[in-house]
Amino acid sequence: MLSYRHSFHAGNHADVLKHTALCLVLEYLKKKDRPFVYIDTHAGRGIYDLTSREAEKTGEFHEGIEKLLTSGVRCPALEPYLGCLEALNPAEPAKRGQDPSEGETVRILRRYPGSPALARLLLRPDDRMIFMELHSNEFPELRKAMEGGKDHRITFHHRDGFEGLNAVVPPAIRRGAVLIDPSYETTGDYQKALDAAGAVLRKWAGATVMVWYPHLSGEKDHTVFMLEKARKLNCPEKLVASLWIQAPQDPGDGMYGSSLLICNPTYGLKNSLEDALRTVLPVLARTDGAKCMVRNLED
Ligand SMILES: C[S@@+](CC[C@H](N)C(=O)[O-])C[C@H]1O[C@@H](n2cnc3c(N)ncnc32)[C@H](O)[C@@H]1O
Repeated sequence: MLSYRHSFHAGNHADVLKHTALCLVLEYLKKKDRPFVYIDTHAGRGIYDLTSREAEKTGEFHEGIEKLLTSGVRCPALEPYLGCLEALNPAEPAKRGQDPSEGETVRILRRYPGSPALARLLLRPDDRMIFMELHSNEFPELRKAMEGGKDHRITFHHRDGFEGLNAVVPPAIRRGAVLIDPSYETTGDYQKALDAAGAVLRKWAGATVMVWYPHLSGEKDHTVFMLEKARKLNCPEKLVASLWIQAPQDPGDGMYGSSLLICNPTYGLKNSLEDALRTVLPVLARTDGAKCMVRNLED
């Protein structure tokens, strides 16, 4: 039984890290004219309503994307991501009593783009997307949010993303990226995520494969396990990008940070991601123990 709902967490610090990196990877893939494919194994519902009861219950987006947007802090490496947020939340005429005053426009953060929505906004007419989602409530919402059927670039799979990924690689279009972003509801997901990455790299050696994982305080943390296993993946270059909004020992809720493992990173990604995370860090930091890092993972 799947109980995780990303609606409670959309737009939090982990999404800022993951989605900034995803947008940069997709932008780099667009630098060549040849089309590419983007595969999302755990797609979620695509677009999240930040005015929903779920989003307000945890308020995680207030500490993540809302803080970043209201800070006004920008840098070129954040532009692809922030541009998507603006596209989804267009400026609207200000109402009486709002700041700025009536007659001017105001941008209100109401909707958050999940990974499928970011890809849909960034990809070109000849690029392709494959979205997989197992949850029976999330899947129809994903299709609806992505205008299922109307956008010929997208193929939807209502299935297990680990098993589905193995079935669709190598794709007919041999350039591309994969995002493996499980909910880690069961600890088996850590092993499955890296096994899935390994299987992709065996069949499709040139793919850029991203695996997101959380950093949790206490015994639930799997960072050491993930890094040990990731080192053994067979690919020439691996990056790990991390964002911690506080130190592990600082008081707070369970997830104090997260990382994205990126196998076969696109050219220039390390520098861009470093710029982006250094810009984001002082805005999202909860304590002095906050830090960010983008490093090469040696075999
Ligand atoms: C962290 S959320 C995905 C968020 C999304 N990738 C994004 O960045 O916007 C994880 C999603 O995986 C779904 N899920 C859980 N187990 C799955 C599985 N075995 N296969 C596919 N989807 C699964 C959950 O229902 C949830 O929607």
